[in-house]
Amino acid sequence: MFDVLVIGGGPGGYAAALYGASAGLSVAVVEKDKVGGTCLHRGCVPAKEFLETAAAFRAVGGALEFGISVSEPKIDFSVSQARKQKVVDQLWRGLSGLMKGRKIEIIEGVGRYVGRGRVEVSNGRILEGQNVVLASGSRPRSIPGFDVDGKIVMTSDEVLSLESLPSSVAVIGGGAIGCEFASMMADLGAKVTILEALPQILTGVDKEIADVVLKSFRRRGINVHTGVAVSGHTPRADSTGTAVHFGDQQSVTVDAVIVSVGRRPNSEDLVGPEASVDVDQRGFVAVDQFMRTSEQGVYAVGDLVATAQLAHVGFAEAIVAIKHILGEHVVPVDYSKVPWCIYSHPEVAFVGMTEDAARDAGLDIIVKKDPFGGNSRARIVGETDGLVKVVAEKLPDGSAGKILGVHMAGPWVTEQLGQGYLAVNWEATPDEVSQYIQPHPTLSEAFGEAVMALTGRGLHVG
Ligand code: NAI
Repeated sequence: MFDVLVIGGGPGGYAAALYGASAGLSVAVVEKDKVGGTCLHRGCVPAKEFLETAAAFRAVGGALEFGISVSEPKIDFSVSQARKQKVVDQLWRGLSGLMKGRKIEIIEGVGRYVGRGRVEVSNGRILEGQNVVLASGSRPRSIPGFDVDGKIVMTSDEVLSLESLPSSVAVIGGGAIGCEFASMMADLGAKVTILEALPQILTGVDKEIADVVLKSFRRRGINVHTGVAVSGHTPRADSTGTAVHFGDQQSVTVDAVIVSVGRRPNSEDLVGPEASVDVDQRGFVAVDQFMRTSEQGVYAVGDLVATAQLAHVGFAEAIVAIKHILGEHVVPVDYSKVPWCIYSHPEVAFVGMTEDAARDAGLDIIVKKDPFGGNSRARIVGETDGLVKVVAEKLPDGSAGKILGVHMAGPWVTEQLGQGYLAVNWEATPDEVSQYIQPHPTLSEAFGEAVMALTGRGLHVG
């Protein structure tokens, strides 16, 4: 009998296991593939590794500006693929070692929760746990007319194991995955077309921030079509590519199609009829704020539940579940204030309310922005696209109250969001935050400048 049985060894599952084991609980994880899950093997980590390849390619291509002559960069994607795999394997070995070191038992096989604390493993073994954490994750979904064959029609799973890059791609869906792949492939020389159903790419991102990405994409030759329905595709007779049909009888001929229209939960066959765990119509396991399912002692975390599908949200949910199991005081995840990071070029990072969302909610707000064009470090680095925008509530006397949202586009903003995240979650005011010094010259001065401007006395920003 284990204290905690976990089904799925991705970020939700391994965080539950590591956190539980470090609190002294006995833990077993049932995993059908490799611990690390989608994030490590087919998602966040490999995608960012390829985006770094694109950054290296851009740096070499732009070296002449610094007086460094090099021949025109060329890419051997099989070498990039091998490097990516090395990075993934090193992290996987590290994670496996860490779990072993904490005495977490990893059981290979497909797990199914069959009620009364029991998990049936595909190898026939029945495990028993005082508590069960369901963390079986998600997988890419496709759309009618686009059967994934791994050659012409791909999802992120296939793209991340390519040995060579297609010379032209249509990316269906301009969300986080679509924009990251579009950015990476365009930088590495592919002709990219994004087909997005909604009126803007990166829906949910502050409009002005998403526009920074849109402008950069268009300047780099990416064709972006928003507000278009994709109706199907007609493969070439020799199967070397296809024509994708969209909008009003338009089409684009490409070597490959990347479908990035969201992910669906892996909940089929996860719970046997003996159990009383509710699964909603879309396949998400229903949970409360403590990640409890409808069956006592059974929790669910990560992409399996209908919350933001982000690895770090999975970590946070796992900690909530384990603390609840331990009977400790638990602060539930505040989903309106989780950090978001998109690693396209330029990068996007944000937390809290967008300007439009705050106005739509009828709030009186003050907004200040600092563009990277005026930031010393951004000029030094040579990446001046983008801005930092801070949204604060407006008090009756006209001064700025709580910081409600911090929104960034530009160089390394994913590494700069921390201060904004703390400010929003701490419910800090610009007066409080602006007394802290930002080192100079740094990119993070842009956040400090925008916050200082909110006090009514900016140094560089009015
Ligand atoms: P997404 O939900 O972020 O974006 C999907 C996009 O596809 C939406 O803009 C949607 O309007 C569009 N779409 C849906 N059906 C369409 C159709 N038939 N034709 C054209 N457009 C269509 O999903 P995505 O990008 O696949 O990512 C999956 C999940 O993984 C998301 O929750 C995302 O937040 C997360 N993720 C986060 C990353 C990050 O934060 N850096 C990176 C990668 C994924």
